[in-house]
Amino acid sequence: MSELYRASTTAPVNIAVIKYWGKRDPKLNLPTNSSLSVTLSQSDLRTHTTASCSPNNKSGDSLILNGESQDVSGARTQACFRELRALRKELEDSKSDLPKLSTFPLKIVSENNFPTAAGLASSAAGFAALVRAIANLYELPSSPTDLSKIARQGSGSACRSLFGGYVGWEQGSKDDGSDSVAFQVAPASHWPNMRAVILVVSAAKKDVSSTSGMQTTVATSSLFASRASETVPKRMQEMQKAIQDKDFEAFGKISMMDSNSFHATCLDTYPPIFYLNDVSRAAIKIVESINASAGKIIAAYTFDAGPNAVVYYLEENEKDVAGVFKAVLGEKEGWAGERGQAVEANSAALDKA
Ligand code: DP6
Repeated sequence: MSELYRASTTAPVNIAVIKYWGKRDPKLNLPTNSSLSVTLSQSDLRTHTTASCSPNNKSGDSLILNGESQDVSGARTQACFRELRALRKELEDSKSDLPKLSTFPLKIVSENNFPTAAGLASSAAGFAALVRAIANLYELPSSPTDLSKIARQGSGSACRSLFGGYVGWEQGSKDDGSDSVAFQVAPASHWPNMRAVILVVSAAKKDVSSTSGMQTTVATSSLFASRASETVPKRMQEMQKAIQDKDFEAFGKISMMDSNSFHATCLDTYPPIFYLNDVSRAAIKIVESINASAGKIIAAYTFDAGPNAVVYYLEENEKDVAGVFKAVLGEKEGWAGERGQAVEANSAALDKA
């Protein structure tokens, strides 16, 4: 008899407006500061994952991403598998008639609907989808908050992709990480006219990974300590208020300042880390000129660990923001040709969840 158990899910990309950068515990991915992000629309940028298992599978755990077999022996993937299996085992121990899925090898198949190498937080959507797909397969009664603790161990930023809308990640203070969880600040429906346009300046893989970059920053940057202990805690409060009040000027200003602060600590790292390039800086100038013409902040840039810009704006300013970027795309070196394309995450707005 062939027994096959299977469950599928999708998880969206999130883009931080208050950046996570620094770990106090690299094994559990416990951060040195809280962070806050916006979850993008599922229809635009997301990972689709199917988790299956069967007693007939004799080949061990496996993971296929975009058709290519991946190594599952890494500590992060192993931590996710281990935690989810332990929860399934608890269920099996409490209900003896349940099939012993926790003892079968897992087969995970994932597809991104965006270029994995484009520096678009693929690990966030990837681990969030992996954890939720296995939780569904195991029929775990876990809440998104519970799952965020597990996804965090896969990749820190992944914990925020378990929720839609505006999402915080509380750094927590416990050594076991039980209070380092994601939480929803507001659903997407609270501020439904928020939009994001993503400018893929370079689809090349980043030369310094987030994981190693942030470790070097913590070890060497003199700016880092005040960012983690003073700047970010204050901004977390201000940003949550800006979101509650739907105050785009405050939201935009804090987003841009936090992106600048994060990249300043990267430059202050020794040896320095350069994620922004000339095209990124040109995007910043364009946002500044859009805001100067409007006489107020109607566009806000933010950059993760790479040169690609994400620009937030409100739907009513579509023409003045996305329209201006569309007009210059193709004319600016670095945005044209095979290395550059604009991925729009703006049509379907942000995640409805
Ligand atoms: C700049 O979550 O990729 O995008 O926990 O080591 O996997 P690991 O790091 P990762 O770092 C993301 C850093 C960032 C900021 C953010 O998303 O908050």
